[in-house]
Amino acid sequence: MASEKPLVAVTCTAPVNIAVIKYWGKRDEELILPINSSLSVTLHQDQLKTTTTAVISKDFTEDQIWINGRKEDIGQPRIQACLRQIRHLARKQRGGEEEEDPLPVSLSYKVHIASVNDFPTAAGLASSAAGYACLAYTLARVYGVESDLSEVARRGSGSACRSLYGGFVEWQMGERADGKDSVARQVAPESHWPELRVLILVVSAEKKLTGSTVGMQTSVETSPLLRFRAEAVVPARMAEMIHYVKERNFEGFGQLTMKDSNQFHATCLDTFPPISYLNDTSRHIIHLVHRFNAHHGQTKVAYTFDAGPNAVIFTLDDTVAEFVAAVKHCFPPESNGDRFLKGLPVGPAPLSDELKAALGMDPTPGGIKYIIATQVGPGPQMLDQPHAHLLGPDGLPKPVA
Ligand code: DP6
Repeated sequence: MASEKPLVAVTCTAPVNIAVIKYWGKRDEELILPINSSLSVTLHQDQLKTTTTAVISKDFTEDQIWINGRKEDIGQPRIQACLRQIRHLARKQRGGEEEEDPLPVSLSYKVHIASVNDFPTAAGLASSAAGYACLAYTLARVYGVESDLSEVARRGSGSACRSLYGGFVEWQMGERADGKDSVARQVAPESHWPELRVLILVVSAEKKLTGSTVGMQTSVETSPLLRFRAEAVVPARMAEMIHYVKERNFEGFGQLTMKDSNQFHATCLDTFPPISYLNDTSRHIIHLVHRFNAHHGQTKVAYTFDAGPNAVIFTLDDTVAEFVAAVKHCFPPESNGDRFLKGLPVGPAPLSDELKAALGMDPTPGGIKYIIATQVGPGPQMLDQPHAHLLGPDGLPKPVA
């Protein structure tokens, strides 16, 4: 009998993505369908990732989930939507009724899920995107689902569908009311632009005031600028951005990334009551980037900000050291001097007096807590070492070492 196999366990990892053409606003709250297409860069999992284990067993009596070591309510509507959708796809793939189930796991078995992030949750670092992409990918592996997972991830968090692929990814908004054409697609793989680097300037690791879901809902209801953006601005920007990525044109890519971030934050201010995700440090970083570029006479670095004050900086490998030195000059690290830089190694670089003068800012000690240096990375991965599982043979979280 197929159902003799007691337990199936799968562990996968998924990346964070950062949008360069932003998603902000839904046309369908339930199905999580956006009012405009968006485009993102997948960040490398060596620096930031979610790891998820799913275990299925005939002995489990209920579905359960643990996030970052804490038991959470599996009844949350978005988790339920993902679970329903994956079980639906699995059933469809097995050809309807599962009387004579050919696979070892029955769809009626309950699932235990454990998920951990290796970065601060809800700090504006897109933890929900990595989290739901990882949930969708891991559940697909455990249930043997091979179809497109955009809908599963999207029902968890819109931006999560873009974390299903590595490299440069577009989420096509689609037109259908049922959302079947609202899917993520890879525009270029992670190997496409090897010189591209990403610096995350962590300004605040605290939980944000207005979550994305509620924030964008208020924007859709009240901001005429957001409607204008979705209808008249984003379609052309999507085409332009895809072109810049394909051509590896940093000048074009960087400028459009900054403009789109600025327009997203302008729609937040146009929302009533207004939403502000940027703080004084964020605005100082914006000035620093523009002055750095003006000094060089070209776009050498670009910023983008999501629903929080942390900056994500794009640049090329030959500029990283000088820009980091400029950041340290303007935001002298407070106490953790040696732990200020995490991730990829960054060498020291001299700052010319001309550049120091061009930056023209009074130093703000401690304004930036730390920097994570990373690059473009691949999509979700399945780990095949059993020790990677976050749940033990009993289906419960392993004690943390
Ligand atoms: C500013 O995907 O977190 O990061 O679909 O309601 O879960 P929900 O929202 P979410 O919104 C992300 C908004 C953004 C821009 C982006 O990633 O495109």
